[in-house]
Amino acid sequence: VPLQPLNSFGIAARAAQLVRVRSEADVRAVLADAELAMQPRFVLGGGSNIVLTGDVKATVLKVEVPGRRVVRSDERHTIVEAGAGEVWHDFVAWTLSQGLPGLENLALIPGTVGASPVQNIGAYGVELQDRFHELDAIDLHTGEQFTLNAAQCGFGYRDSVFKHTALAEGDFGLAGRALILRVRFALPHAWQPMLGYLDLERKMAETGVTAPSAQQVFDWIVDIRRAKLPDPAVIGNAGSFFKNPTVTPEQCQDIIGRDPKVVHYPMPDGSVKLAAGWLIDACGWKGKAVGNAGVYDKQALVLVNRGGADNPATGGEVMTLAKAIQTSVYERFGIRLEPEPVVI
Ligand code: EPU
Repeated sequence: VPLQPLNSFGIAARAAQLVRVRSEADVRAVLADAELAMQPRFVLGGGSNIVLTGDVKATVLKVEVPGRRVVRSDERHTIVEAGAGEVWHDFVAWTLSQGLPGLENLALIPGTVGASPVQNIGAYGVELQDRFHELDAIDLHTGEQFTLNAAQCGFGYRDSVFKHTALAEGDFGLAGRALILRVRFALPHAWQPMLGYLDLERKMAETGVTAPSAQQVFDWIVDIRRAKLPDPAVIGNAGSFFKNPTVTPEQCQDIIGRDPKVVHYPMPDGSVKLAAGWLIDACGWKGKAVGNAGVYDKQALVLVNRGGADNPATGGEVMTLAKAIQTSVYERFGIRLEPEPVVI
């Protein structure tokens, strides 16, 4: 089965088998199928945060669970729920159309609702964990359904239990084991726009709007993202290719010594976050390429497929380019960049 249309990078890998699942009954049918039960399984959402470095020797479970609804309202929050297969951006737009703000800063992030907790998507000062309530998943080993709250998901910066494999009995990793079916969000009644981000401050200054509605923030975010991030429907990519690294204040001083212009943000815990895009840009990578894998010319943190659908970059080219970037950033700044998408 060709996976090229199912990954936003547009890499031309194939899967042994693909099954579309729309409900837990569909998942249980896969687990009960004598032939399928023997095969390794791989859970796929929107395919917008993966790098395929070869064919997938597994049965791909493409999650297409539909539905979105308002569950209930308590004193402080409205709880809304979406099926894992819903398109993230459309779900955000739907919450606003229901008069429920809170997700607008996460507009236009590619992918599905089910994938959103896996990497704890975040942008413009809001992370999924800030609005998360709970999720329902099915255990692919036992067929049992279970519900996890935020603490049980182990959210971190672009991280969760769903990105880690359990190495021993009792470990918390759920990668390859949990198939997320539905996610619930808690949207606060006492909504305030989150505007503490340079690009948003610029929008306020340009327009003179100082108390924007949620819809206004949504529209600004869409504009900002369109201006600097490539649309995967036009140029294949998986968003930011590396995480922004965190360093100690001493390390940061060392890097400022190497280049005083380094973009850095103090974190609440005393550490300092560096802009990986700036580090890569400073090493001269914008616009460079390995074969058909290139560094986006407007945002050095994004690697792109320059060959389109007809002559796509291979996963090998993407990873060779990524390694060359890691080496050069390490040699210049002493920082090891960590890939952000899941490499398969
Ligand atoms: N910068 C450069 N050169 C570049 C790229 C960036 O100098 O080529 C500088 C920018 O000028 C800015 C700083 O680096 O001063 C940070 O750049 P930006 O605001 O574009 O954000 P980012 O840190 O590169 C992160 C997330 C994005 C998210 C934006 C907005 C990560 C890995 N990336 O990018 O998330 O949309 O902030 O909040 O945390 C993603 O995860 O896939 C993603 C796109």
